[in-house]
Amino acid sequence: MKPIAFVGAGRMASAMVEGLLRAQEIAPDRITVCGGPDPTARELSERTGVSVAEPATVAEGADFVILACKPQQLPDLDPALLAALECKAVISILAGVPLRKLRAAAPRARLIVRAMPNTPGQIGAGITAFAADPEPTEEDARVTTAILGALGETVAVDEADLDAVTGVSGSGPAYVFEFTAALREAARAQGLAPDVADRLARATVLGAAKLMHAAPEVTPEEQRDRVTSPGGTTEAGLRVLAARDLRRTLHETVAAATRRSRELGS
Ligand SMILES: NC(=O)c1ccc[n+]([C@@H]2O[C@H](COP(=O)([O-])OP(=O)(O)OC[C@H]3O[C@@H](n4cnc5c(N)ncnc54)[C@H](OP(=O)(O)O)[C@@H]3O)[C@@H](O)[C@H]2O)c1
Repeated sequence: MKPIAFVGAGRMASAMVEGLLRAQEIAPDRITVCGGPDPTARELSERTGVSVAEPATVAEGADFVILACKPQQLPDLDPALLAALECKAVISILAGVPLRKLRAAAPRARLIVRAMPNTPGQIGAGITAFAADPEPTEEDARVTTAILGALGETVAVDEADLDAVTGVSGSGPAYVFEFTAALREAARAQGLAPDVADRLARATVLGAAKLMHAAPEVTPEEQRDRVTSPGGTTEAGLRVLAARDLRRTLHETVAAATRRSRELGS
């Protein structure tokens, strides 16, 4: 992989750098990072051996530049850095910043990618959807997928779909955490000790997720039916979820998050 640069060295940039190095996609001396006033860039360099530069020079010599600061920091980026993006490929993970704004900041970049990762990406277990302007060459698509792949799975979408992606996989981990907390509270209500209730709820969500991951050809509905015997305990529980219309609740949850993403982006 040709040299790459990161603008921002916080949680997401660190996860990407560490994932790329772990996968041996690139050597540390071909990665340069910069940060803002805090010492995140120096700390990432000390941990991984990547180089540190000032924002004005970080993109020099890089072929791909990853924007991984906070969205509100985009207008404050060093003009020398933005000027240096000419002819380079730029991948932005800034939540909610549309391709048109990124293109306005880097009008002469050869490729701009807007990506929407999620928090499990911090441990390489995320899914990142991305849209590109213009359509990337085969080689640029390969490198883009390798860089974003450091956070987990990747999927190419139209930019118009990124609000829905935000409502599903962007906000989705929070729905699962809330479900886990509710399961823990329900376990407590049945008289289980707090630590037992907590362990049961976490391990059940993790185990079910791993089971789905291990058998991608089996639908969630089939997995559900495999634990549900007629007249049994699971069926009794599922009947309550159906009566309270869990599916409708989630439908409205995702719709509300998607709507909010559209509002914030417009
Ligand atoms: N966290 C997630 O799971 C997640 C999910 C989806 C999308 N995202 C997106 O990922 C991006 C990064 O999130 P994060 O959680 O990694 O943030 P973070 O930990 O706060 O890191 C932000 C980084 O940007 C640097 N920075 C600040 N001002 C800068 C400037 N003017 N020039 C260059 N670098 C600057 C900071 O440096 P110093 O602190 O050293 O000053 C820090 O290294 C955000 O845009 C967010 O929308 C994150």
